Amino acid sequence: MFENQVAVITGAGRGIGAAAARLFAKYGARVVVSDLDTEPAKEVVAKIKQAGGEATAVIGDVTQPDFPDQLMQSTIETFGKINILVNNAGYTWDGMAHKMTDRQWQAILDVHLTAPFRLIRAAAPYMRDLAKREIAQYGHPQEPRCIVNVSSTSGLHGNIGQANYAAAKMGIVGLTKTIAKEWGGFGIRCNAVAFGFIDTRLTRPKEEGHTITVQGQQVRLGIPENLRQMAHAFIPLGRPATPEEAAGGILLLASPLAAYITGHTLEVTGGAGI
Ligand SMILES: NC(=O)c1ccc[n+]([C@@H]2O[C@H](COP(=O)([O-])OP(=O)(O)OC[C@H]3O[C@@H](n4cnc5c(N)ncnc54)[C@H](O)[C@@H]3O)[C@@H](O)[C@H]2O)c1
Repeated sequence: MFENQVAVITGAGRGIGAAAARLFAKYGARVVVSDLDTEPAKEVVAKIKQAGGEATAVIGDVTQPDFPDQLMQSTIETFGKINILVNNAGYTWDGMAHKMTDRQWQAILDVHLTAPFRLIRAAAPYMRDLAKREIAQYGHPQEPRCIVNVSSTSGLHGNIGQANYAAAKMGIVGLTKTIAKEWGGFGIRCNAVAFGFIDTRLTRPKEEGHTITVQGQQVRLGIPENLRQMAHAFIPLGRPATPEEAAGGILLLASPLAAYITGHTLEVTGGAGI
Protein backbone atom coordinates (compact mmCIF):
# COMPACT_ATOMS: atom_id res chain seq x y z
CA MET A 1 0.00 0.00 0.00
CA PHE A 2 2.91 2.38 0.70
CA GLU A 3 5.64 0.90 -1.52
CA ASN A 4 8.24 3.49 -2.57
CA GLN A 5 6.86 5.99 -0.06
CA VAL A 6 8.69 7.64 2.84
CA ALA A 7 6.78 8.32 6.07
CA VAL A 8 8.02 10.68 8.80
CA ILE A 9 6.33 10.05 12.15
CA THR A 10 6.93 12.15 15.25
CA GLY A 11 6.52 10.59 18.69
CA ALA A 12 7.16 7.20 17.09
CA GLY A 13 9.14 5.72 19.97
CA ARG A 14 6.06 4.58 21.86
CA GLY A 15 2.32 4.12 21.80
CA ILE A 16 0.33 5.10 18.73
CA GLY A 17 3.33 6.53 16.84
CA ALA A 18 5.37 3.36 17.30
CA ALA A 19 2.43 1.24 16.14
CA ALA A 20 1.99 3.51 13.11
CA ALA A 21 5.71 3.21 12.28
CA ARG A 22 5.54 -0.59 12.37
CA LEU A 23 2.34 -0.66 10.29
CA PHE A 24 3.63 1.78 7.65
CA ALA A 25 6.77 -0.36 7.35
CA LYS A 26 4.71 -3.54 7.14
CA TYR A 27 2.79 -2.04 4.21
CA GLY A 28 5.95 -1.02 2.37
CA ALA A 29 6.95 2.48 3.50
CA ARG A 30 10.43 3.50 4.54
CA VAL A 31 9.93 5.08 7.93
CA VAL A 32 11.60 7.88 9.87
CA VAL A 33 11.01 7.12 13.53
CA SER A 34 11.37 10.42 15.35
CA ASP A 35 11.13 10.80 19.12
CA LEU A 36 12.39 12.72 22.12
CA ASP A 37 13.80 9.51 23.59
CA THR A 38 16.63 7.59 21.93
CA GLU A 39 16.19 4.05 23.27
CA PRO A 40 12.49 3.54 22.45
CA ALA A 41 13.00 5.01 18.96
CA LYS A 42 15.96 2.72 18.28
CA GLU A 43 13.95 -0.28 19.48
CA VAL A 44 11.16 0.54 17.02
CA VAL A 45 13.71 0.84 14.19
CA ALA A 46 15.29 -2.49 15.20
CA LYS A 47 11.89 -4.24 15.20
CA ILE A 48 11.03 -2.84 11.78
CA LYS A 49 14.39 -4.01 10.39
CA GLN A 50 14.00 -7.46 11.98
CA ALA A 51 10.66 -7.75 10.18
CA GLY A 52 12.39 -6.91 6.88
CA GLY A 53 11.41 -3.23 6.69
CA GLU A 54 13.43 -0.05 6.33
CA ALA A 55 13.60 2.61 9.05
CA THR A 56 15.86 5.16 10.65
CA ALA A 57 15.66 7.07 13.93
CA VAL A 58 15.91 10.85 14.26
CA ILE A 59 16.05 11.99 17.86
CA GLY A 60 14.97 15.40 19.10
CA ASP A 61 12.35 17.59 20.75
CA VAL A 62 9.70 18.77 18.28
CA THR A 63 9.22 21.97 20.29
CA GLN A 64 12.79 23.12 19.61
CA PRO A 65 12.54 25.72 16.83
CA ASP A 66 15.39 24.26 14.74
CA PHE A 67 14.34 20.60 15.08
CA PRO A 68 11.70 20.53 12.28
CA ASP A 69 14.29 21.60 9.68
CA GLN A 70 16.80 19.07 11.05
CA LEU A 71 14.20 16.30 10.83
CA MET A 72 13.30 17.09 7.22
CA GLN A 73 16.94 17.45 6.13
CA SER A 74 17.88 14.21 7.83
CA THR A 75 14.97 12.45 6.08
CA ILE A 76 16.06 13.77 2.70
CA GLU A 77 19.68 12.72 3.35
CA THR A 78 18.62 9.19 4.32
CA PHE A 79 15.64 8.43 2.07
CA GLY A 80 15.63 11.25 -0.51
CA LYS A 81 12.00 12.37 -0.20
CA ILE A 82 8.95 12.80 2.03
CA ASN A 83 5.55 11.41 1.09
CA ILE A 84 3.79 11.23 4.45
CA LEU A 85 4.17 13.41 7.54
CA VAL A 86 2.43 12.25 10.70
CA ASN A 87 2.31 14.87 13.47
CA ASN A 88 1.80 12.61 16.46
CA ALA A 89 4.31 13.56 19.21
CA GLY A 90 2.83 14.83 22.43
CA TYR A 91 1.88 14.39 26.03
CA THR A 92 -0.65 15.69 28.52
CA TRP A 93 -0.11 18.07 31.42
CA ASP A 94 -3.50 18.21 33.03
CA GLY A 95 -4.94 20.63 35.59
CA MET A 96 -8.13 22.55 36.17
CA ALA A 97 -8.24 25.81 34.18
CA HIS A 98 -8.41 28.05 37.24
CA LYS A 99 -5.17 26.55 38.56
CA MET A 100 -3.31 26.07 35.26
CA THR A 101 0.02 27.91 35.00
CA ASP A 102 1.14 29.83 31.92
CA ARG A 103 3.98 27.33 31.53
CA GLN A 104 1.58 24.39 31.61
CA TRP A 105 -0.69 26.06 29.04
CA GLN A 106 2.15 27.08 26.73
CA ALA A 107 4.04 23.76 26.86
CA ILE A 108 1.00 21.87 25.61
CA LEU A 109 0.22 24.45 22.91
CA ASP A 110 3.88 24.22 21.85
CA VAL A 111 3.97 20.45 21.43
CA HIS A 112 0.49 19.84 19.98
CA LEU A 113 0.02 22.92 17.80
CA THR A 114 3.12 25.06 17.22
CA ALA A 115 5.36 22.05 16.56
CA PRO A 116 3.02 20.52 13.93
CA PHE A 117 2.78 23.96 12.24
CA ARG A 118 6.58 24.27 12.14
CA LEU A 119 6.97 20.68 10.92
CA ILE A 120 4.51 21.30 8.08
CA ARG A 121 6.35 24.54 7.21
CA ALA A 122 9.69 22.71 7.30
CA ALA A 123 8.27 20.00 5.01
CA ALA A 124 7.00 22.58 2.47
CA PRO A 125 10.14 22.60 0.27
CA TYR A 126 10.04 18.79 -0.07
CA MET A 127 6.25 18.44 -0.39
CA ARG A 128 4.47 21.63 -1.55
CA ASP A 129 7.26 23.30 -3.54
CA LEU A 130 8.38 20.07 -5.19
CA ALA A 131 4.80 19.20 -6.16
CA LYS A 132 4.42 22.70 -7.62
CA ARG A 133 7.50 22.20 -9.81
CA GLU A 134 6.28 18.75 -10.89
CA ILE A 135 2.91 20.18 -11.90
CA ALA A 136 4.63 22.92 -13.91
CA GLN A 137 6.82 20.33 -15.66
CA TYR A 138 4.55 17.29 -16.06
CA GLY A 139 1.04 18.61 -15.49
CA HIS A 140 0.50 16.64 -12.29
CA PRO A 141 2.39 15.61 -9.11
CA GLN A 142 4.78 12.69 -9.53
CA GLU A 143 4.27 11.24 -6.03
CA PRO A 144 1.43 10.78 -3.53
CA ARG A 145 1.87 13.21 -0.63
CA CYS A 146 -0.14 13.78 2.54
CA ILE A 147 -0.12 14.93 6.14
CA VAL A 148 -1.95 13.31 9.03
CA ASN A 149 -2.26 15.33 12.23
CA VAL A 150 -3.20 13.71 15.51
CA SER A 151 -6.08 15.35 17.35
CA SER A 152 -8.27 14.17 20.20
CA THR A 153 -11.89 14.01 21.23
CA SER A 154 -10.76 16.24 24.13
CA GLY A 155 -10.34 18.93 21.48
CA LEU A 156 -13.58 18.25 19.60
CA HIS A 157 -15.76 18.05 22.70
CA GLY A 158 -13.68 19.62 25.54
CA ASN A 159 -12.51 17.66 28.57
CA ILE A 160 -12.31 18.46 32.27
CA GLY A 161 -8.72 19.19 33.34
CA GLN A 162 -7.49 19.65 29.77
CA ALA A 163 -8.06 23.31 28.79
CA ASN A 164 -4.53 23.45 27.33
CA TYR A 165 -4.75 20.11 25.51
CA ALA A 166 -8.32 20.67 24.25
CA ALA A 167 -7.39 24.09 22.84
CA ALA A 168 -4.33 22.66 21.08
CA LYS A 169 -6.16 19.60 19.74
CA MET A 170 -9.00 21.74 18.34
CA GLY A 171 -6.42 24.18 16.98
CA ILE A 172 -4.87 21.39 14.96
CA VAL A 173 -8.23 20.74 13.31
CA GLY A 174 -8.20 24.34 12.05
CA LEU A 175 -4.58 23.97 10.91
CA THR A 176 -5.49 20.72 9.13
CA LYS A 177 -8.38 22.31 7.19
CA THR A 178 -6.24 25.32 6.27
CA ILE A 179 -3.36 23.23 4.93
CA ALA A 180 -5.89 21.10 3.04
CA LYS A 181 -7.03 24.31 1.30
CA GLU A 182 -3.56 25.83 0.81
CA TRP A 183 -1.88 22.64 -0.46
CA GLY A 184 -4.82 20.88 -2.13
CA GLY A 185 -3.93 22.51 -5.46
CA PHE A 186 -0.58 20.71 -5.30
CA GLY A 187 -2.25 17.33 -4.76
CA ILE A 188 -1.27 17.20 -1.09
CA ARG A 189 -3.93 16.00 1.30
CA CYS A 190 -4.08 16.99 4.95
CA ASN A 191 -6.33 15.18 7.43
CA ALA A 192 -6.60 14.68 11.18
CA VAL A 193 -7.39 11.70 13.37
CA ALA A 194 -9.13 12.45 16.66
CA PHE A 195 -8.55 9.62 19.08
CA GLY A 196 -10.74 8.70 22.02
CA PHE A 197 -9.40 6.34 24.69
CA ILE A 198 -6.29 4.52 23.44
CA ASP A 199 -4.32 2.26 25.75
CA THR A 200 -0.91 3.95 25.98
CA ARG A 201 1.08 5.41 28.86
CA LEU A 202 -0.95 8.63 28.48
CA THR A 203 -4.03 6.75 29.63
CA ARG A 204 -2.52 4.15 32.00
CA PRO A 205 -3.54 4.48 35.66
CA LYS A 206 -1.86 7.58 37.11
CA GLU A 207 -0.90 5.36 40.03
CA GLU A 208 1.59 3.52 37.72
CA GLY A 209 3.72 6.67 37.88
CA HIS A 210 4.64 7.28 34.21
CA THR A 211 6.38 10.63 33.69
CA ILE A 212 7.85 12.63 30.82
CA THR A 213 10.66 15.15 31.18
CA VAL A 214 10.53 17.99 28.67
CA GLN A 215 13.08 20.80 28.97
CA GLY A 216 13.89 19.86 32.55
CA GLN A 217 10.23 19.74 33.61
CA GLN A 218 8.97 16.39 34.89
CA VAL A 219 5.26 15.87 34.20
CA ARG A 220 3.13 13.01 35.55
CA LEU A 221 1.17 11.11 32.91
CA GLY A 222 -1.94 8.94 33.18
CA ILE A 223 -5.52 9.03 34.37
CA PRO A 224 -6.84 8.22 37.87
CA GLU A 225 -8.01 4.58 37.90
CA ASN A 226 -11.63 5.43 38.87
CA LEU A 227 -11.96 7.75 35.83
CA ARG A 228 -10.48 5.07 33.55
CA GLN A 229 -13.13 2.59 34.64
CA MET A 230 -15.90 5.16 34.09
CA ALA A 231 -14.61 5.87 30.59
CA HIS A 232 -15.28 2.27 29.49
CA ALA A 233 -19.01 2.76 30.12
CA PHE A 234 -19.19 5.52 27.46
CA ILE A 235 -17.51 3.50 24.70
CA PRO A 236 -19.98 1.49 22.59
CA LEU A 237 -17.23 -1.02 21.77
CA GLY A 238 -16.76 -1.33 25.53
CA ARG A 239 -12.97 -1.02 25.76
CA PRO A 240 -10.07 1.26 24.89
CA ALA A 241 -8.28 0.78 21.55
CA THR A 242 -4.91 -0.86 21.20
CA PRO A 243 -2.18 1.41 19.75
CA GLU A 244 -2.35 -0.69 16.57
CA GLU A 245 -6.09 -0.08 16.19
CA ALA A 246 -5.48 3.65 16.66
CA ALA A 247 -2.64 3.63 14.12
CA GLY A 248 -5.05 2.01 11.66
CA GLY A 249 -6.91 5.32 11.47
CA ILE A 250 -3.71 7.12 10.51
CA LEU A 251 -2.85 4.59 7.79
CA LEU A 252 -6.41 4.68 6.48
CA LEU A 253 -6.17 8.42 5.82
CA ALA A 254 -2.65 8.16 4.36
CA SER A 255 -3.60 5.27 2.07
CA PRO A 256 -4.43 5.46 -1.64
CA LEU A 257 -8.02 4.54 -0.71
CA ALA A 258 -8.32 8.01 0.85
CA ALA A 259 -7.02 9.74 -2.31
CA TYR A 260 -10.02 12.11 -2.46
CA ILE A 261 -10.30 12.75 1.29
CA THR A 262 -8.78 15.95 2.61
CA GLY A 263 -9.50 18.42 5.41
CA HIS A 264 -11.30 15.66 7.28
CA THR A 265 -11.10 14.77 10.97
CA LEU A 266 -11.67 11.06 11.50
CA GLU A 267 -12.89 10.10 14.98
CA VAL A 268 -11.31 6.84 16.13
CA THR A 269 -13.17 6.34 19.38
CA GLY A 270 -14.87 2.93 19.44
CA GLY A 271 -18.08 4.90 18.99
CA ALA A 272 -17.65 7.18 22.00
CA GLY A 273 -19.24 10.61 21.57
CA ILE A 274 -21.64 9.57 18.78
N1 LIG B 1 -3.67 7.70 24.27
C1 LIG B 1 -4.81 8.32 24.02
O1 LIG B 1 -5.88 7.94 24.53
C2 LIG B 1 -4.86 9.50 23.09
C3 LIG B 1 -6.09 10.09 22.82
C4 LIG B 1 -6.16 11.17 21.97
C5 LIG B 1 -5.01 11.65 21.37
N2 LIG B 1 -3.82 11.08 21.66
C6 LIG B 1 -2.64 11.66 21.02
O2 LIG B 1 -1.91 10.65 20.37
C7 LIG B 1 -0.54 11.06 20.26
C8 LIG B 1 0.37 9.92 20.71
O3 LIG B 1 0.17 9.70 22.09
P1 LIG B 1 0.29 8.25 22.78
O4 LIG B 1 -0.98 8.00 23.48
O5 LIG B 1 0.80 7.25 21.80
O6 LIG B 1 1.38 8.59 23.90
P2 LIG B 1 2.82 7.93 24.24
O7 LIG B 1 3.32 8.64 25.43
O8 LIG B 1 2.70 6.45 24.29
O9 LIG B 1 3.70 8.30 22.96
C9 LIG B 1 4.01 9.64 22.65
C10 LIG B 1 5.45 9.74 22.18
O10 LIG B 1 5.69 11.13 21.87
C11 LIG B 1 6.99 11.46 22.33
N3 LIG B 1 7.08 12.89 22.61
C12 LIG B 1 6.42 13.60 23.56
N4 LIG B 1 6.79 14.87 23.55
C13 LIG B 1 7.71 15.00 22.56
C14 LIG B 1 8.49 16.08 22.06
N5 LIG B 1 8.39 17.29 22.61
N6 LIG B 1 9.31 15.85 21.02
C15 LIG B 1 9.42 14.62 20.47
N7 LIG B 1 8.72 13.55 20.91
C16 LIG B 1 7.88 13.73 21.95
C17 LIG B 1 7.18 10.64 23.59
O11 LIG B 1 8.55 10.47 23.90
C18 LIG B 1 6.46 9.33 23.25
O12 LIG B 1 7.35 8.34 22.75
C19 LIG B 1 -0.40 12.34 21.08
O13 LIG B 1 -0.48 13.46 20.22
C20 LIG B 1 -1.63 12.28 21.97
O14 LIG B 1 -2.02 13.56 22.43
C21 LIG B 1 -3.70 10.01 22.49
